[in-house]
Amino acid sequence: MQPDLITVFGGTGFLGSRIVHELINAGHAVRIASRRAAVPSGLEQQARVEHCRADIRDDADVARAVEGAHGVVNAVSLYVEQSDLRFTTIHVEGARRLARAAHQAGLERVVQISGIGADRRSPSPYIRARAEGEDIAQREFPNAVIVRPSVLFGPGDAFLRNLAGLASLPVIPLFGRGTTRLQPVHVSDIARAIAQLSGNVPPAHPIYELGGPDILTYREILALVLDHRGRRRPLLPVPFAVWHALAGLAAVLPNPPLTRDQLYLMQQDNVAGTTTGSFADLGITPRSLETVLPDCLPTQ
Ligand SMILES: NC(=O)c1ccc[n+]([C@@H]2O[C@H](COP(=O)([O-])OP(=O)(O)OC[C@H]3O[C@@H](n4cnc5c(N)ncnc54)[C@H](OP(=O)(O)O)[C@@H]3O)[C@@H](O)[C@H]2O)c1
Repeated sequence: MQPDLITVFGGTGFLGSRIVHELINAGHAVRIASRRAAVPSGLEQQARVEHCRADIRDDADVARAVEGAHGVVNAVSLYVEQSDLRFTTIHVEGARRLARAAHQAGLERVVQISGIGADRRSPSPYIRARAEGEDIAQREFPNAVIVRPSVLFGPGDAFLRNLAGLASLPVIPLFGRGTTRLQPVHVSDIARAIAQLSGNVPPAHPIYELGGPDILTYREILALVLDHRGRRRPLLPVPFAVWHALAGLAAVLPNPPLTRDQLYLMQQDNVAGTTTGSFADLGITPRSLETVLPDCLPTQ
């Protein structure tokens, strides 16, 4: 085993690439595992980063990707199901395959990334699959640590970009009354937490729910973005039943702009609990959306 080597499955993605940066900053060597070969920008010349072409659906790929590593992080995502690719394939079977391979190869650490709100009883297949993936990862690798972030923001994120896109409409439709509470968290703060949890010190908690310093309603976040863009727009409450009907119609499109799974997520507060591990336990002070918004989203 190479004691400082961490494999990051999905290390080319939005969160995964930040995890790779944080691991390198912390002195680790990193093996990125993903289907397309790529190295996060700024690390092209970094000798301690290697890429391993691997699909989380393939036993041999996964075994090769974890071989000789100290730990592995699962940052693979699937947000929208396709006819030949189900949530369970990635979030449940993928999590099982990775945790089992890590156990068989004698790794010390498995970090499974999930999300706040993961729930086996949810009407959403996505939210159920996230909860099942957590359980399976911990069954296959009993010391696996689960990290559940709230919604992520940072340069190039989809969350702020979509909100900014709404600012060009004459009237902005709200999800319900826009009162769902969220705890937006900077992608690099989550990445730092994950780098720490992958290291040599065993995590103190089996689950970490991580949110930023401010709990804001969807309406308040929208107001921040509008203000940042110098826009004023009327906000129109739209019942969730109407959104579900629209998402049902959009489901026939190859790339639907909105899914029922996203609506189920937006119907529940997305706020870190008090009984899990936290940023404070890791000695990390997360930055606030309001402070770093100018670094994440252009004003035009
Ligand atoms: N973004 C958020 O606001 C947010 C909030 C809470 C939790 N999370 C969680 O954070 C994790 C990462 O999300 P993200 O937004 O960073 O995702 P992302 O940007 O879509 O990146 C996904 C990564 O997974 C890889 N991948 C996809 N399918 C794969 C497969 N079959 N085999 C191997 N690699 C595969 C992709 O690379 P290839 O396509 O090249 O394989 C890519 O590197 C997910 O678990 C997500 O649910 C995200």
